Amino acid sequence: MLSQEVDDSWSFKDATRTETSYLTHGYHRYPAKFIPQLAARVIRENTQAGDLVCDPFMGSGTTLVETIVNGRRAYGTDINPVAVLIARAKTTPIEPGKLKREVEAVLQYLKAAIVRQEGQALLTSETFDVHLPSHSRIDYWFPEKQKHDLALMLGRIMAVSDKDVQTFLLCSFSNILKGCSRWIMKSVKPTIDKHKIPAPAYQSFLLQTRRMVKKNEEFWRTIGSHKIDCIIDNRDARNLALENNSAQLVVTSPPYVTSYEYADLHQLTGLWLGYVDSLKEFRAKFIGSIQKEDGDLDLCSPLAKETVVELRTKDKREATGTERYFFEMQQCFEEMHRVLKKGGRAAIVIGDTDLKKVKIRNGEVFIETMEKIGFKKHQIIKRPIPSKILPLTRDEKTGKFARTANADRMAYPTEYIIIMEKI
Ligand SMILES: C[S@@+](CC[C@H](N)C(=O)[O-])C[C@H]1O[C@@H](n2cnc3c(N)ncnc32)[C@H](O)[C@@H]1O
Repeated sequence: MLSQEVDDSWSFKDATRTETSYLTHGYHRYPAKFIPQLAARVIRENTQAGDLVCDPFMGSGTTLVETIVNGRRAYGTDINPVAVLIARAKTTPIEPGKLKREVEAVLQYLKAAIVRQEGQALLTSETFDVHLPSHSRIDYWFPEKQKHDLALMLGRIMAVSDKDVQTFLLCSFSNILKGCSRWIMKSVKPTIDKHKIPAPAYQSFLLQTRRMVKKNEEFWRTIGSHKIDCIIDNRDARNLALENNSAQLVVTSPPYVTSYEYADLHQLTGLWLGYVDSLKEFRAKFIGSIQKEDGDLDLCSPLAKETVVELRTKDKREATGTERYFFEMQQCFEEMHRVLKKGGRAAIVIGDTDLKKVKIRNGEVFIETMEKIGFKKHQIIKRPIPSKILPLTRDEKTGKFARTANADRMAYPTEYIIIMEKI
């Protein structure tokens, strides 16, 4: 059993919202985001300036931003193209004067164009292509007005020639989609709210973009004349584009058993930017997706095997999904072991959870697995998650993300930071 002693110094409970969203960290919402202060502390305590830090499940890129700011080299990847877009925007400071000029040109154009098009059914533009997606899911989520304004906006953004500015604007565009749609704001599940009045697209974009412009300026000043060394990939965590023995540290929070929900969650951006044709295929790429076929999987952790056997008595499908999840995470740990230098460390942030009333002790399973692969324990921290930043809760019966009120209990009010060292 892992120690039950909680280390309060890792809770960062006094960090204000301004502090947790400093620099570019607040560019885009993302489920189960790291607190930047946590990533920063792990990086500072386990690396030196110039070392290579890797996050194979980078999500919105919190680790990468902190790696850069602390003068280390960064490599991050995520299977989700929406994560790649956000991480690129967050790790790319843009010269503030240039950004302001480009942004104002886009905003002014949109203001005039949207007023001009008011009430018209057909979208046209003399200067660029209008990207009106024909996907039926777009019609499902967006009222006509929002759909047209967003199409005009996307067309104008795609006409921006500077790729960094374009990525910045696409990140802003992506973050307003939920508010401009019929999606229930508080829900991470794709649920329509019949009574919602979707936010106006132009005003939302204006506010979001101006907020981001300010944050870029802060980031630009912080980076100063430092050279940024940051590579961002859209690869699977089991196939990192890194040499053997090249990284000093992995800092990551892996997905949970039901992580295919990331695909559902980002479908609005995926639909607009053409990342998703088939939601089913998209989901299958995520770790632990229960849509994959069962096989005879060789789990090296005895606890993982026991958990799967226990789950099988309750629900065969969930047992299969969990077995696959543990197996795929095992493959990820093997890949981390390959890319880390001897003496290099992997810091994994993970909580335990419940599935069909079976305790899924992810922390212990991961330690056991990593020990078999060639790691030894360096430091195991149990940290409280202050309720104000508890990202999501999981329903006890299904293990899926749920709104707090519907969840039977908090899924992971504490979590582990497992720091393992490559032998
Ligand atoms: C808990 S989130 C990481 C959040 C991140 N720490 C942050 O601060 O934003 C886990 C991530 O794993 C990604 N993921 C799931 N399966 C993956 C795979 N096979 N390869 C790479 N990334 C994957 C998901 O897309 C998700 O972004």
